[in-house]
Amino acid sequence: MSVGGRHILLGICGSIAAYKSAHLTRLLVKAGAHVQVVMTPDATQFITPLTLATLSGNPVLVDYFAAKSGEWNNHVQLALDADAILIAPASANTLAKFANGLCDNLLCAVYLSAKSPVFLAPAMDLDMWAHDSTRSNISRLQSYGNHIIPPGNGELASGLSGEGRLAEPEEIFATLQVYFGEGLPLAGKKALVSAGPTHESIDPVRYIGNHSTGKMGYAIANQLLRLGADVTLVSGPSGLTPPERATFIPVTSAAEMLEACRSHFPMADITVMSAAVADYTPKVTADQKIKKTESHLTLELVKTTDILATLGKAKRNDQILVGFALETQDEVANAVDKLHRKNLDFIVLNSMRDAGAGFASDSNKVTIIDKNDDKEVFELKSKGEVAKDICSRVIRLLNR
Ligand code: CTP
Repeated sequence: MSVGGRHILLGICGSIAAYKSAHLTRLLVKAGAHVQVVMTPDATQFITPLTLATLSGNPVLVDYFAAKSGEWNNHVQLALDADAILIAPASANTLAKFANGLCDNLLCAVYLSAKSPVFLAPAMDLDMWAHDSTRSNISRLQSYGNHIIPPGNGELASGLSGEGRLAEPEEIFATLQVYFGEGLPLAGKKALVSAGPTHESIDPVRYIGNHSTGKMGYAIANQLLRLGADVTLVSGPSGLTPPERATFIPVTSAAEMLEACRSHFPMADITVMSAAVADYTPKVTADQKIKKTESHLTLELVKTTDILATLGKAKRNDQILVGFALETQDEVANAVDKLHRKNLDFIVLNSMRDAGAGFASDSNKVTIIDKNDDKEVFELKSKGEVAKDICSRVIRLLNR
């Protein structure tokens, strides 16, 4: 993930610091971001829309509609299109409006419609910044989940000196870089994770499933995201909330999971298959509910395609492929066999024999076995901590 390719909605308020927005726009555009500038009417007194339109390469929006053409600037769509909304400079007046949900101009309406993270870079005179009203507005805005990029300390336009000057454009840009994962160990890496059980339909109301909850896979997806990777999570029915920043692909059956994984695998630098995929599926799925007319019912099952082995065959040298093994006997020997048979970089073995490990539990006890058959045995840990161990091993392999 990086700022490049992102849609950044840059809101500019009426403040002398608005001149710095030109430089900020330039930094964003140079990094490959798509910048849409929305100005408050007062901001246009400080810097011309023409300057920002030229630098951003996009028309600058100020009003709800263009008076001449009658064209409507759809605030809801503008908010939806943005990967991040950045208000720089954010004036005391606009912060107060945001804190209270006022929307008497286009920028305020975009803010109220925001679905993406909002970054606020305040700029004002030191006494305005220190005022109790501003302090309380800032705390309120933070409590709503907005990110505040604190103002710097120094010379102000009023001639006074103190806290209130807009953070430097480089600093504001760096905040977005960190948010989008640049500088993190897995920045720029694409990861594919499978999680959860699969459900194989017997008839319209019944299926064959297993007890997997998806907790381990979701913990891995979350950890990869934290480390800066761009994550695609392919999940069977789990009931868990997908990580906000992951591309989420819900699937039901092993066949659907195979298709989703197969199509995303070529793009993935890191693939971790933690799903508990059904090994067998009904040969036929009845169109209608099966009635209990007979004393015995025999279901014919056929083998599903092994997703991990399929990916292992297609794997390039620059890709890392990690699998899981859930064993009840001859754990290590079985896991080593799977590791080599499926062409993995390492395998995570969890034994059903360990108390507190396996399906549904919040903890897990694993052994990581690598291509040289070297084993690292871990203690019983939370699934979040196990995800950290797995991701550390991935980072070690990437850096070798
Ligand atoms: N797996 C898969 N597709 C399948 C079956 C398994 O991708 N159809 C993956 C799992 O996600 C896991 C690994 O293979 O990463 C091992 O799964 P496991 O159920 O332990 O082993 P199997 O390969 O199914 O072998 P067996 O049933 O013989 O233990």
